[in-house]
Amino acid sequence: MSLYYILIPVGVGAALYVVRKLRERHFGWVRNASSLKDRIFVITGANTGLGYETARALVQRHATVIFACRNMQKAQEAIDSIRKETENGQMVSRGNKQPNYDTFTTSPPSQIPMELDLASFDSIKAFAAKLKAEYPHFDCLINNAGLAVKTEHYTKENFELHFGVNHLGHFLLTSLLSDVIKQNKSRVVVVSSKMHEKASIDFENLGKWVAPTPRERTNRHYNSSKLANFYFAKELYRKGYDAHVLCPGLCHTDFFRDYNPKWYHYVLFSPIAWWYLRSARQGAQNIIHCATDNVNTAEKNPGNDYLVVNLKQTKSKGQIREEDSVRLWTESEKLIGRNFD
Ligand SMILES: NC(=O)c1ccc[n+]([C@@H]2O[C@H](COP(=O)([O-])OP(=O)(O)OC[C@H]3O[C@@H](n4cnc5c(N)ncnc54)[C@H](OP(=O)(O)O)[C@@H]3O)[C@@H](O)[C@H]2O)c1
Repeated sequence: MSLYYILIPVGVGAALYVVRKLRERHFGWVRNASSLKDRIFVITGANTGLGYETARALVQRHATVIFACRNMQKAQEAIDSIRKETENGQMVSRGNKQPNYDTFTTSPPSQIPMELDLASFDSIKAFAAKLKAEYPHFDCLINNAGLAVKTEHYTKENFELHFGVNHLGHFLLTSLLSDVIKQNKSRVVVVSSKMHEKASIDFENLGKWVAPTPRERTNRHYNSSKLANFYFAKELYRKGYDAHVLCPGLCHTDFFRDYNPKWYHYVLFSPIAWWYLRSARQGAQNIIHCATDNVNTAEKNPGNDYLVVNLKQTKSKGQIREEDSVRLWTESEKLIGRNFD
């Protein structure tokens, strides 16, 4: 009888483990390990989370990566951490060998920290000018940085923070780089989220804070900024840019830092986490795929409302409104004070 007390939990645990492993296979993994030597990738928010894991994977394949981050110390720490694991672009096990810094200063792969605060137009303009002067032939811009906060915050130009950083900051950045992006046919990768499917664009209050009602369960400003990302990629694609948009899935990163979960949240959340939550490295596969391998076809592309989920082109289930997509572009142009073709 007592044996059952051991066998049943062990059996249940083993079954849960196997199901989870099968589930992880469904998340997808980039198998292409070909060299990216001489290719330059710009990643916003590369110091942590999905941006960091994307940078790490690209460096492993000998790419040059520009770490576009608001905090230079964090950017340098991220670079140092990748260098500790990497030697000549090959991953070496932690503690196995001291990194040979000479190989990084004399030959690719290169990791370059560059200051970019997406909550400030001045910072975005300074970053774009520096990038164009020093790396005018980059191959891919990855608009990854993003945040979710619970309360009212604004950017330097007084835009509600989610709209200002997640959407408008990247919109301005991409517009300032558009000439070199066009010239080099660079890829533009937009990190959106499936949360866009729950959102709409409130044009009456565009860029303004609206207090949530007590019944709201998700962050309307965040969801709306992710829909703005989706529309941005849609219009970029339609204007002839090599645009790719994705959802990384629910990932374990620093993203929820503003939420301070209580112990019972972890208990309540654990079944959802077991089924949905992926590591930053697993989620980043979607970004890496879009930055290197993803192909937009005549049918499956951002213009036709497809985004990459689990490394596959997937039709959005959101209420995608063509007129809102076009209008958001023109309204965003007005807000940044420049045309973007
Ligand atoms: N994690 C998820 O479950 C999930 C799901 C769907 C979509 N996403 C999207 O994935 C992207 C990356 O998120 P993550 O999960 O990796 O979150 P994360 O770990 O919090 O990383 C976010 C990055 O964005 C940077 N950032 C924030 N505000 C910035 C600003 N004003 N200027 C420049 N950089 C700024 C952060 O810099 P600091 O470190 O200096 O703050 C950090 O490097 C976001 O666009 C997010 O919306 C995430």
